[in-house]
Amino acid sequence: MTEQDAAGELEARLTEQDSFEPPESFVEQANVSDPGIYEEFEENWPGAWERAADLLDWESGYDEVLDDSNPPFYEWFTGGELNASYNCVDRHVAEGRGDEAAIEWVGEPTEEDDRTYTYAELQTEVEEFAAALRELGVEEDDVVTLYMPMIPELPVAMLACARIGAPHSVVFAGFSADALATRMNAADSEHLVTCDGYYRRGDPLDHFEKASEGLAGVEHDVSDVVVVDRLGDDGFGHDLADNHHDYDDLVADHEGASVEPVTRDAEDMLFLMYTSGTTGEPKGVKHTTGGYLSYAAWTSHAVLDIKPEDTYWCSADIGWITGHSYIVYGPLALGTTTVMYEGTPDYPNEDRLWEIVEEYETTQLYTAPTAIRAFMKWGAEYPEQHDLSSLRLLGTVGEPINPRAWKWYYKHIGGEDCPIVDTWWQTETGGMMVTTLPGVGDMKPGSAGPALPGVDARVVDTKGDEVEPGRAGYLTVDKPWPGMLRTLYNNDERFVSEYWTEYSDTESSDAEDWVYFPEDGAKIDDDGYITVLGRVDDVINVSGHRLGTMEIESAIVGVEGVAEAAVVGGDHDLKGEAVYAYVLTEDGHDGDEDLREEIIEGVEDAIGPIARPEAVVFTPELPKTRSGKIMRRLLEDIANGEDLGDTSTLRNPSVVDDIQAKVSED
Ligand code: WTA
Repeated sequence: MTEQDAAGELEARLTEQDSFEPPESFVEQANVSDPGIYEEFEENWPGAWERAADLLDWESGYDEVLDDSNPPFYEWFTGGELNASYNCVDRHVAEGRGDEAAIEWVGEPTEEDDRTYTYAELQTEVEEFAAALRELGVEEDDVVTLYMPMIPELPVAMLACARIGAPHSVVFAGFSADALATRMNAADSEHLVTCDGYYRRGDPLDHFEKASEGLAGVEHDVSDVVVVDRLGDDGFGHDLADNHHDYDDLVADHEGASVEPVTRDAEDMLFLMYTSGTTGEPKGVKHTTGGYLSYAAWTSHAVLDIKPEDTYWCSADIGWITGHSYIVYGPLALGTTTVMYEGTPDYPNEDRLWEIVEEYETTQLYTAPTAIRAFMKWGAEYPEQHDLSSLRLLGTVGEPINPRAWKWYYKHIGGEDCPIVDTWWQTETGGMMVTTLPGVGDMKPGSAGPALPGVDARVVDTKGDEVEPGRAGYLTVDKPWPGMLRTLYNNDERFVSEYWTEYSDTESSDAEDWVYFPEDGAKIDDDGYITVLGRVDDVINVSGHRLGTMEIESAIVGVEGVAEAAVVGGDHDLKGEAVYAYVLTEDGHDGDEDLREEIIEGVEDAIGPIARPEAVVFTPELPKTRSGKIMRRLLEDIANGEDLGDTSTLRNPSVVDDIQAKVSED
């Protein structure tokens, strides 16, 4: 057989193979490799969750693992006391590991020096900034908003907040000024940390201007704004107001400060994270100190297989939950080295990530299917230019991964030698819920895997009965878990109505009668492997980012001349889903190019460029049922060019042909 034939045969085998064993060499060294772990959690539930709590240092031990006396307001590790900043930083220094790297930060400009924070350096800066925040008047339980890109001052600020017991609310830097204002208003947050700007594809980007615009929309007094000088001479020369402070000055003023980590109850809030839901208002997901941190650490240990000596890299943005749990809290709690990269994967070249993997001898890479689809499109020659043999494990998160992309990742990045964990979870779950354990279970491309030990995920029909393997149904989680959200900030009612009504007996005070509904569709196979099919609510998933159609619609309707709008997700090769907007103008006529531009701008202003519509389709009417409900399914099918089937239940069936004609024009 020639070499070419052999390669072809290998390729064919990979294409057909639908189950992969974890490599022996991986299993031998894995943090978790005993299949008995599933049984252990089943037999000793919730007691086995002590395994997670045991990964942390507690100032005082908890009385109870789980208090489920008032569902769905569960409490974990009740009575326990701890501090997250202590757990992520001080204890590693105290163990004599102060000289080891905590954060390896890589800026976008290749000529700029990378920055390494050892654990000792991280502790120093966290204490200095914590002292500064205190001096600015930040008190325990005040919400501090962090509107920052991927610069090291962001994790420093998060940990400084945690140190003094002030919950942070990180707002993704790519979000608009309006989005910042909405979040600061909702959290009643009087303190903001932001920066002058950052680099995007070679150009400095003015972030401070956006932050200032956002501040103008905050309805209460903002007592202080801290500004990190990221751009130096490339900055935009903004003047700082009286209540604006330069980050470096503040830290210098508190040089050598020592700030004792405050004692927090396990159930005290660690942070808020706003995420999109079915209504226009983002939801303020509340995570706690004990349960969240235990869960982030446990899943980092069991699924990402993180060890202190690793150089681990999650390429998400800290502005999303993935970055919170798996760039900052999980990895640092385990005392490893976490890599942080400011830029995009294709700048200055499409091999940038592989260059970083090679340079830092990265041991794990955790990224998103949307990125993997882009790598595939760019071609295997980019990873082939680099030595990726340091990699031991690969992970994906954010959206379903198709088997073809999975296999490409497995072969071209992992060299067929790294297990892949396809991890299903949400902002609300705090950490991973459904995935294989890389040292235990076989992988099936396209299927996330079984629920983690102790996680009671099921696939059910509309009545809540488990569906037959292979049939589509809805994902539910029938038991609580430590990393779960505790409520929606200041809105217990919405917390119950959003997640706990479909499948729960809301009258019952018995935890058994309460079921968490994540609003995802799924199917399960005979081995209990779950394939997540996607959202079943009005949330779309663009490049792994969650966007509420209502939020986008309300931005569009806010544009002058627009009467009505319906937004749906249409399939997209790279982004997974893309935003399709169907718009009705006030005068009922076709909108022009100007209006199209204004609509696109309106969406970018209200949310950010990630929500930019792929297509704006003007239509004289929206397809509605006889009762006046917009037929979103139909609009999705139109966006995807699919066969529409029976449209006779529509109040206005003729509109469909009109819209279809327009979409195919575009
Ligand atoms: C989707 C991101 C399929 C899902 C951590 C979920 C996934 C939403 C996967 C949460 C996966 C996340 N396979 N779908 N491995 N991971 N999702 O809150 O629809 O930004 O409900 O959290 O992303 O998005 P969020």
